[in-house]
Amino acid sequence: MLDIIKKIAKKFISTKKNNSNRKPIIQKEEASNALQSVNRKPLNAFTFFERLHKTNNIIDALEERWWNEAGNLIEDVWGLPDDLCLAYREEYIIKAKKIFLEDKKNVKVLDLGCGTGWFGRILADENVFYHGIDFSETQIQIAQQKAKGTKNEAFLKYTKTTSIKSIEKLEEFDAVIINAFLHHLHKEELTTLFDDIKAHFKSGTKIFMMEPTYPTNKTKSNITNLDHIKADITDSTIKAIKKQAIEKKIFDTKKEQDLLELIQESNENGFFFSPKEVPFAFEEIEGLISKYANLKEYFYVGVNDFTFLQMLSLVTDVNFRKEMLEEIYPNIKKMDKELIEKTFYFNGTNNYIFTCFVCVLK
Ligand SMILES: C[S@@+](CC[C@H](N)C(=O)[O-])C[C@H]1O[C@@H](n2cnc3c(N)ncnc32)[C@H](O)[C@@H]1O
Repeated sequence: MLDIIKKIAKKFISTKKNNSNRKPIIQKEEASNALQSVNRKPLNAFTFFERLHKTNNIIDALEERWWNEAGNLIEDVWGLPDDLCLAYREEYIIKAKKIFLEDKKNVKVLDLGCGTGWFGRILADENVFYHGIDFSETQIQIAQQKAKGTKNEAFLKYTKTTSIKSIEKLEEFDAVIINAFLHHLHKEELTTLFDDIKAHFKSGTKIFMMEPTYPTNKTKSNITNLDHIKADITDSTIKAIKKQAIEKKIFDTKKEQDLLELIQESNENGFFFSPKEVPFAFEEIEGLISKYANLKEYFYVGVNDFTFLQMLSLVTDVNFRKEMLEEIYPNIKKMDKELIEKTFYFNGTNNYIFTCFVCVLK
């Protein structure tokens, strides 16, 4: 989720003694008990995690607490400020919208694990009614606040709930959005969720998913010198902009520090990042989808361009940010697209890639 920052954190974690006054969200003993209760060894975020079968109340409660307490910070660096969020996500949301409106003029969509709700703010209009649900009070509060006063407020709804079954008339929805939510569930929960979707939504419901995925059945192909140079340019551009911003004192080092400490806490607790988070292997998510839906297509969205925007989200001067977004970002995005087509990406803890899946419920 936080590629470049995790990369920096790797150095930070190995050198820094914990002398911060920050109160951890989850104490080491609680984390250790929770992991024992689900039979998992603590792992380091830089190793490969496997999804567990069962969940239980202990680890579920930690996951919920983590999202409630880290919610504001995560919104800043994962949700991204509006300008950066739009730059990264508008293209694939427009694609999703076209798919939803392919055969109907007005649609209703339900977003599962909607977080702070940016998908709806970009998507909703008089033809697309959007309802986002999430179990985190903090995330839903941010979503509701951010929707207030927007031009599409009338077409947006956010609800705090732990189950889709608490939402009325699921059969009236035409589409389901799942953006970076499934990888927070254990295997049995995934099966239950998809059984519920199958039981309560009509056949033909469109499902648009985006999940961090290790493209394990894909090999890097035809990587050329040019590709290595593109990767190096991206990496050094990110570093150069950050350096400039720090020198100009327009880089939020306090927020970066908070984030590094949150990553350090997760790492020391043996979690990937949030307590239940485990990115997918490509075959795992493909297998899950195939039981319930027909997979129409999948495509990748950027990895290194996202890293670029995460860094930019810590820049406090809006004009500087705007200039970088207009002048530099398009080049980074173009190069990243070309690299990703070859599944060549170079940042990140385990080199997962953000993959969108377009499916139709059987
Ligand atoms: C990585 S965030 C993604 C949020 C949003 N879809 C986005 O892409 O920005 C994962 C979200 O799943 C929510 N979540 C995790 N486990 C959940 C559960 N069991 N039920 C409902 N929401 C859950 C968290 O509160 C968080 O908002």
